[in-house]
Amino acid sequence: MSGIKLSIRVWDAPVRLFHWLLVALIVALYVSQFLDLMWLHYRLGEVTLSLLIFRLFWGFFGSETARFGAFLKPPRAALAHLAAFRRSAGGEGVGHNPAGGWMVLLLLVLLFAQALSGLFARADRNSAGPLNPLLAKPASDLVSAFHAWNFYVLLGAIIVHLLAILAYGWIRGENLLRPMISGKKRLPAATRAPRFAPPLRALALYLLAAVIVALIARR
Ligand code: HEM
Repeated sequence: MSGIKLSIRVWDAPVRLFHWLLVALIVALYVSQFLDLMWLHYRLGEVTLSLLIFRLFWGFFGSETARFGAFLKPPRAALAHLAAFRRSAGGEGVGHNPAGGWMVLLLLVLLFAQALSGLFARADRNSAGPLNPLLAKPASDLVSAFHAWNFYVLLGAIIVHLLAILAYGWIRGENLLRPMISGKKRLPAATRAPRFAPPLRALALYLLAAVIVALIARR
């Protein structure tokens, strides 16, 4: 479609805040365990888990483009999108495209697996996640190994995520990064703007997520 384009808001502040805090937390979590600052690693892990639980809530009760129901399309649609990747002109979609939706789900599942396994993992003789005492040694060893290896799976998925964003820019001329920063995208004037949920709802859901994590981690 050509013609007049307008700057339309596609991502709300909670999704953008969630995304960029997550990026900072992933780096800080890696650095803290590398420097053996495990007390910091556990606290950052709890903050990450609270953000993930919030994002889960927001996927059901949040703005239209944040909802799982809006961006999780049948695998057929994702494959058709990828098959037409070079041919179709990019940049006219409002939220995640049908392939991106599955990538987001994969990242969220891997992040949840990482944060939840961290609660039960043991770093060494003197240091363990808050729920590790609930496990016998064999289970503790298994979860700890999973936590270590899943990080590399997550890293692989993050690399694919970044390569995909570069490919959308280079091959289709579609800049996905700018909307994740500003919230806005230039779209044909006839595009229906998505519906946004009130920020106070986001705050209430984040507080609920934070309370859930506090109750789990300080049980
Ligand atoms: C500097 C590095 C990164 C950049 C530039 C970046 C960029 C982006 C962009 C542009 C989107 C929107 C894609 C779309 O339009 O469909 C997105 C979504 C997303 N990214 Fe990243 N990303 C980065 C790192 C990460 C990391 C480290 C993670 C954590 C595993 C991550 C997880 C996600 C998730 C979960 C979404 C979906 C957001 C939502 O719907 O809430 N990203 N990213």
